[in-house]
Order: sequence, then C-alpha cells, then structure tokens
Amino acid sequence: LKLGIMASGSGSNFEAIAQAIADRCLNAQLQVLIYNNPGATVVERAKRFDVPSVLLNHRVFDSREQLDHAIVQTLRQHEIEWLVMAGWMRIVTPVLINAFPNRILNIHPSLLPSFKGHRAVEQALAAGVKITGCTVHGVVSDVDSGEIIMQAAVPVLPTDTAETLQSRIHVQEHRIYPSAIALAAHSWKERSKL
Ligand code: GRF
Repeated sequence: LKLGIMASGSGSNFEAIAQAIADRCLNAQLQVLIYNNPGATVVERAKRFDVPSVLLNHRVFDSREQLDHAIVQTLRQHEIEWLVMAGWMRIVTPVLINAFPNRILNIHPSLLPSFKGHRAVEQALAAGVKITGCTVHGVVSDVDSGEIIMQAAVPVLPTDTAETLQSRIHVQEHRIYPSAIALAAHSWKERSKL
C-alpha cells in the first residue's frame, strides 16, 4: 500500500503510522510527506523515518485550488495509492478529492458527527459531554463528513483542560489510525471487486 501523508504541524500521527509500518503492524510504504508550514516538527520525524518530504506552502499559492493542483502533482510523482491527512490544517477542494476518489482519509479529534471543524476539543469541553474521542473518516467536500471508518472513545474528566483532553485523545488517535488505514484499503479493494 503506497501512502502519501499530509501534515501541518507536530506530526505525532505521522510518527504513529511510520512506526506501525516499521514494526510491520501496517503493510504499507510512506512514499512522501507533504507539509505546508516551513519549520513544522513533522519534517524532523520524516527525516528519522527516511520519508521524503515536500514543502508546499499555501501562502505562495493564489487559491486553494492551485495549492491542491500542486499537491496532486506531487502525489502522482510519488505514485501514491492512498492519501492520509494527519493534522492537515487546510480545507481541501474537489481538485484533490476527485484525484483520489474514496482513497483519502482524515482523523478528527471528536466522535463525529459531533464537533466538526476547528477546535473540536474545546467544543467538546464547552458542551459538557462526558465522553468524546476521535474519528478516522473518508474525505469528501463537506468538512469532517464522509464515511466513518473507525472511532475510539475517551472520557472527559472534570479536571480536564483542552491540553489534557487533547493528549488523552492523541493516545487513541495513534492507536486507531494505522488499523483504520488497513481496514479502509481492504474494504475498498473488496468493494472494487464487485
Ligand atoms: C490531531 O488531533 C488530529 O485529530 C487533528 O490534528 C491533530 C494532529 O496532531 N486533525 P499531530 O500533528 O498528528 O500530532
């Protein structure tokens, strides 16, 4: 399974996936990392795992579509089959979505369809829910919609801040993302046989 990954920041999910591949828990190859923020920590992680990285800084493109065209070109050059968004903090357009139909995954720090969009962890705290979590889902044009592939729940504790809750969610993200990739690719293959 040839994967491309897109990330904007820390890249702890990138690392969890790269480690699962290194440990042979996920049968895949990371062909390329695309990142949009110069200096993002994820680049250091990519170096450690020998994954080539490409900076596509959204600030130098005139539109979301132009950025997405550049992304598609880069992904094609690296011959990727599936695209994994791991903390990519930009809205993607049909230019990208239609280039890899039903083969793009994202992870979101809530139990979708609750708390879509930015600051999902803060939204959950403000709503006073006692359980939240994370969701791996297929990417469609509507933000944080698309087919739900896998979810994990975490408790919200009375003492939680956004940071403590976020880190409890992260542990679950790192656990489910590699298996969700394998599951999504497997069911996609089965469906395309029909
Ligand atoms: C994760 O919480 C993910 O759910 C959200 O962005 C965050 C990325 O974290 N989409 P990291 O960069 O993988 O550490």
